[in-house]
Amino acid sequence: MKNYLYKTNLGQYVLGDSQQLIKKGELDQYKNKVQLILFSPPFPLNAKKKYGNKLGAEYKKWLSDLAPLFAKLLKKDGSIVVEMGNAWEPKRPVQALLSLESLMAFVSNPKADLRLCQEFICYNPSRLPSPAQWVTVNRIRTIDSYTHVWWMAKSDFPKADNRRVLRPYSKSMLQLLKRKSYNSGMRPSQHSISEKGFLTDNKGSIMHNVLEMEQMDEERDLRLPTNMFSFANTNSNDFFSTQCREKNIPIHPARMPTSLANFFIQFLTEPGDIVFDPFAGTNTTGYCAEKLKRKWLAVEIDKDYGKQSIIRFKEPKLTKKLTIKKI
Ligand SMILES: C[S@@+](CC[C@H](N)C(=O)[O-])C[C@H]1O[C@@H](n2cnc3c(N)ncnc32)[C@H](O)[C@@H]1O
Repeated sequence: MKNYLYKTNLGQYVLGDSQQLIKKGELDQYKNKVQLILFSPPFPLNAKKKYGNKLGAEYKKWLSDLAPLFAKLLKKDGSIVVEMGNAWEPKRPVQALLSLESLMAFVSNPKADLRLCQEFICYNPSRLPSPAQWVTVNRIRTIDSYTHVWWMAKSDFPKADNRRVLRPYSKSMLQLLKRKSYNSGMRPSQHSISEKGFLTDNKGSIMHNVLEMEQMDEERDLRLPTNMFSFANTNSNDFFSTQCREKNIPIHPARMPTSLANFFIQFLTEPGDIVFDPFAGTNTTGYCAEKLKRKWLAVEIDKDYGKQSIIRFKEPKLTKKLTIKKI
């Protein structure tokens, strides 16, 4: 595309308004070709942040109108994954309904024919106490520590394979596999536990729909699979953040955890598939896609964030070819 900021062998980062680019047909080459659209939209906050969020009903309509535009880029068995945090009513200890209402409006837009395949909770145990006034001063609310992640698709059976994202076995399961015995029979919950069903080593256990970003207690098992990649949420001390700090570049305030992007890219796509992030920011999605050998497209409206995201691709050994356009 003409207005790309940089490209690699697998993807390109384009500057522009994603809604307008799709409306004007500038992304038509991707129609029915994208396997996964993964994004966290500008959040529906009540105070405007640097990247100009829309407010209230206007935001809800804006997000909902994106659904048919994104759906037409998706393959028949493609998926859309949206991450959205909670928002709070200004000066009140009341959680705003806007993020959930907006997600509902997006998935139920009749022009898009989407369904909710599954909701995930992305839990960050290290989240700073917020909303601060009500949590730390008045002590009448608990720490808001998760984001909603909605996985949607045009079909009931989008491409997905939970065997690609296995969790490491718990210590007790590893012992059981070694011992080759356990108590079978009926449990108080009325589940019947077969005699041999748990003796097969499937190389890991099946993921839950709660993604835990970081371990607080090292003795505890992490819900994210750690056996294939480093999935720990290293956002604050990875190559990108360290470089930004060294160069005194103000880091994007709302980056997606790389562990979240890695998880959904592996779960819902295979190498060679196309992954698209229409609100790319620091290009967490493109960076993870590149590492996992998926093709990618990133669109971002803010040139400064675009320039900042180039740092990710300067990580030693990441890409053989990085073409940066002079702007
Ligand atoms: C929540 S941030 C996404 C951050 C990104 N996932 C990351 O890991 O860095 C939302 C981004 O959307 C961008 N944005 C807002 N409106 C946009 C639009 N209409 N088209 C493209 N990008 C937009 C903002 O500048 C911001 O960087």
